[in-house]
Amino acid sequence: MKVAILVGSVRIGRQSHKIAHHVERRLQERGIAVDLIDLAADPLPILEERSGRDPELQARVERLSERLQAADALLLVTPEYHGSFSGVLKNALDYFWEEFNRKPIGVVAVSAGKMGGINASTQLQHVILSLGAFPLPTKLLVPEVQSVFDESLQVKSEPVAKLTTRFLEEFLWFAHAVVQAKRAPQSSWLSVA
Ligand SMILES: Cc1cc2nc3c(=O)[nH]c(=O)nc-3n(C[C@H](O)[C@H](O)[C@H](O)COP(=O)(O)O)c2cc1C
Repeated sequence: MKVAILVGSVRIGRQSHKIAHHVERRLQERGIAVDLIDLAADPLPILEERSGRDPELQARVERLSERLQAADALLLVTPEYHGSFSGVLKNALDYFWEEFNRKPIGVVAVSAGKMGGINASTQLQHVILSLGAFPLPTKLLVPEVQSVFDESLQVKSEPVAKLTTRFLEEFLWFAHAVVQAKRAPQSSWLSVA
């Protein structure tokens, strides 16, 4: 099982990467291979063409495509901006399609307010359907994100730590179910009455 985490925030002074790294560590503790894709480190310009004419951009898009392709399941991490998920994340998703097909995808949303990015998360789940992927019904919402982490980027909020555990249990159950179904020979499920 390999999980890719796509961080949809590149803002100077951002908070979202903190929960992304926390989730990465929690998965790694369970022995799961994680590839954290940070759009701040691998920026994508506003989409003009998927492959583009710029060879440097083309190479970057291909590398990202391979990393997404290699993942069995994905987590999308987004801030809530004006009642939705980030434009940076949507722009990155628009570069790809096949890379997401038939993959289980979980949503992690953060906000400065008390609602934990609920609007961002439900709208992103909707978009995941259009990627031909399977949105995990459960999401991880992180309200008042600015007070969740200490200076060494450890979670100091007990509720967020517990919610993360529950979310990852759901995510891994779902991801394993989809991975197993893909590995099973067609004859084993075609004959189910
Ligand atoms: C453009 C913009 C719009 C925002 N809109 C909302 C919002 O609608 N609801 C909310 O709770 N917080 C909102 N915030 C606060 C963010 O959720 C908060 O800054 C959070 O840390 C964002 O994640 P980031 O730090 O990774 O950018 C907004 C912030 C920005 C920069």
